[in-house]
Amino acid sequence: MPPLKSLDGQLSIGGCNIQKIAASFGTPTFVTDEQRIRENCRRLVAAFERNYPKFRLNYAVKANNNLAILNVVRQEGAGADCSCVEELELARLAGFASDRLLYSGNYNSDYELAQGISSGAAVNLDDVELLPRLLKFGQPEILSFRINPGVGEGQYPGLVFGGENTKFGVEESRIEDAYTRAKASGIKRFGIHMMTGSNVLNPDYFPSVTRKLFEIAERIATKVGLTFEFVDIGGGFGVPYEADEHSLDIDSLGAGVGSVFREFVEKETIGEPYLMIEPGRFIACDSTVLLGRVHHIKITSKRKFIGTDVGMNTILRPALYGAYHHVYVAGEPNTTEEVVTITGQVCENTDILAKDRTLPRINIGDVIVVMNAGAYGFCMSSQYNSRPRAAEVLVNQGQAEIIRDRETVTDLISRQRIPVRLQK
Ligand code: LLP
Repeated sequence: MPPLKSLDGQLSIGGCNIQKIAASFGTPTFVTDEQRIRENCRRLVAAFERNYPKFRLNYAVKANNNLAILNVVRQEGAGADCSCVEELELARLAGFASDRLLYSGNYNSDYELAQGISSGAAVNLDDVELLPRLLKFGQPEILSFRINPGVGEGQYPGLVFGGENTKFGVEESRIEDAYTRAKASGIKRFGIHMMTGSNVLNPDYFPSVTRKLFEIAERIATKVGLTFEFVDIGGGFGVPYEADEHSLDIDSLGAGVGSVFREFVEKETIGEPYLMIEPGRFIACDSTVLLGRVHHIKITSKRKFIGTDVGMNTILRPALYGAYHHVYVAGEPNTTEEVVTITGQVCENTDILAKDRTLPRINIGDVIVVMNAGAYGFCMSSQYNSRPRAAEVLVNQGQAEIIRDRETVTDLISRQRIPVRLQK
């Protein structure tokens, strides 16, 4: 599985030996292969641009907000999709130009709306009633609404963002009113947006939902009398987590989506919009492995528990969604296999990384390698159980550099204050 390779019979990433990285930087550590991030950006650009040249890739900062990674993505020519003003700030710190920022919040505060305007980003509103609140602070450079096209698809129920049962987007019945009011307020530049689910591996889904978005866009263009500078189909492009899952065919996805764009743009009703996408997972997920160490092994009447320093505090997805992450054991391949359950050290019974998994025999001291840890990995980790958060390392062509120091107890308490009366 990318980005792992076998080098002299040992697992390696970005030309660096996995066990040496674990020994030098400690565990748990997220290790990102810079070249894989670059490749993922280039694969996306190639898949879309050849089918519709007026294309823009924006990276969803929420998937992995490390500044080093944001810089890599910026160097690849991407813009940044930011879900909050703090992400706008991170994107600015990573050098993204303000005209390559999209601010796509939901249930925003007044403060956030004001910051959205002053950032110079394109502002994407999740509700029509946010418009009058936004306009108190000025007009955005370019405005879009996030549409709920009435359908959604995602790997887990929690990853479906379109359709009836979600908190996101403007319903179809209100969307005409939204753009009518925006136009009446004097705004001149418009886009349209959707984000209907995450980790979708079916390439046919995207052209079909894009068609729905265009049908809505066409109606607005005709009835309200405006054109669109961008049509943003969101992210959601899936990555295989299980060994037997197929990769998403992005070339077929790009061809399908591109052909829907061409078909509608040729009708000359909606203008000549940019095709925008804002993937997070597809860019970051398979660039990164999470290294942990085995500290204890317990055998009960039911299971063999492999106790590691990778818990739900380090990677939340298995506990939150029941998500599967493939696990390898670094070191000499052991041909004896057994069924084990890998756990972290948090005092919760949901702190299970991999349940009843068949793996080569594991010993105390072994390094485990958790795959697909680059998206929604570190950024969803916590200090729960007073555990400092993991380190992050970037590897590139045989070089390994720290891009986030491991936290210590100092980080746990750095924002705390003890009232003097309690210090006696
Ligand atoms: N754009 C918007 C407006 C979004 O809300 C998201 C993700 C993206 C883009 C990027 O989606 P992606 O390409 O990464 O699927 N915590 C979950 C994923 C939640 C995604 C939330 N929104 C997980 O661990 O799988």
